[in-house]
Amino acid sequence: MTTPTSIALKITDQQHELIIKSTGQALHGRIRVPGDKSISHRSLMLGALAEGETIIHGLLLGEDPRSTAECFRAMGATISKLNAEEVRVNGIGLGNLQEPEDVLNTGNSGTTTRLMLGILASHPGKFFTVTGDRSIRSRPMSRVVKPLQQMGAQIWGRNENSLAPLAIQGQALKPIHYHSPIASAQVKSCILLAGLMTQGQTTITEPALSRDHSERMLRAFGAELSVDSETNSVTITGQARLKGQTVIVPGDISSAAFWLVAGAIVPGSDLTIENVGVNPTRTGVLEALAQMGADIALENQREVAGEPVADLRVRHSKLKACTIAGDLIPRLIDEIPILAVAATFAEGTTVIRDAEELRVKESDRITITATQLNLMGASITELPDGMEIVGGKSLRGAEVDSHTDHRIAMSLAIAALNATGVTTIHRAEAAAISYPDFTATLQQVTPE
Ligand code: S3P
Repeated sequence: MTTPTSIALKITDQQHELIIKSTGQALHGRIRVPGDKSISHRSLMLGALAEGETIIHGLLLGEDPRSTAECFRAMGATISKLNAEEVRVNGIGLGNLQEPEDVLNTGNSGTTTRLMLGILASHPGKFFTVTGDRSIRSRPMSRVVKPLQQMGAQIWGRNENSLAPLAIQGQALKPIHYHSPIASAQVKSCILLAGLMTQGQTTITEPALSRDHSERMLRAFGAELSVDSETNSVTITGQARLKGQTVIVPGDISSAAFWLVAGAIVPGSDLTIENVGVNPTRTGVLEALAQMGADIALENQREVAGEPVADLRVRHSKLKACTIAGDLIPRLIDEIPILAVAATFAEGTTVIRDAEELRVKESDRITITATQLNLMGASITELPDGMEIVGGKSLRGAEVDSHTDHRIAMSLAIAALNATGVTTIHRAEAAAISYPDFTATLQQVTPE
């Protein structure tokens, strides 16, 4: 019998310190992760824009989708929790958004901000203002403002209309074919949502395929959409009418990734994460971990409401370094901090390139991942567009900080499970952005 790992949470003011003293206890059990964040946002937005009722099963009740719900409530949608599992959205119909009396606050959520801008800019005669927290107010919005302006949108903000707070005067837009310089589902979805309200065909081409949840869900709600997979182009025909649907949100593979890495690095572990979305535009993390020699099996593969789903079983194994770059990057962009944790324990040097987008996420995830893991004894060198990680290290507990980035907070907690001594993670409350029950599940897989 091993001594249990101790997990404690110290709450002062609004801030949490997560204190982990690992004994190297193996992780066991069957767990579930909360609903997919990307699909949750989209189900609330399309539900609000549709005619009739949308029922969402398994919605992520994290802070980011709550921001989306608040914004759409302020514009006339009714969103109510029916029970622990189901949320109902009474849509108002495309074009019928009410002008909100106050500023729309998107909190920490880039997806809410960017997708919603496409919707607001294409609602003629209405005026909107949008802002968010300190992170959102520093994140680049020109990537969506510029193509929207090409469609005729009127948007104002600081730094040549690229930083929130933003003011939007809704307009009847004109269709364009936009060639995006970045593979970003937020940019793609923003343009498709603007295209919903725009007469004619709006096309977006991206340099590599990003997550396609918008395409799947827009179709399911009745929009006319065509995809050219040779050129990574999507065309939407406006004006559309959307009809309320039942959406079943699978578990978030980005949240499952923390347990996949935990199970892979902690000796003796055998964990199953049930009901995880395995949409091929999101499974880059499984491919990277397979390259590293992780033992992960997809069990019980099935299709649920238009999205592929599986149970993921991970067992501890010896990891080796790999290279992560190119078209794989958009398919695992949110998992790079936790993959850096895996790489720290892998034999050899892992190189991550083509991931400059990480610098404009909730935090600069290249700098913050490197500095915080290095405080624990990792050897990570920053590259302009990635990291070089010398693996085969043993980590030691340290005082580290999430920098209010949810994925950094959780990555550090998983690193702490395989470190000696005590790790204190400051501002660990950030995890609630995408995973409110993270600490509870951490306790579940390391029972006393
Ligand atoms: C998201 C797209 C990704 C991802 C974000 C969620 C989405 O951003 O990082 O967490 O739901 O569309 P980009 O598309 O900007 O890379």
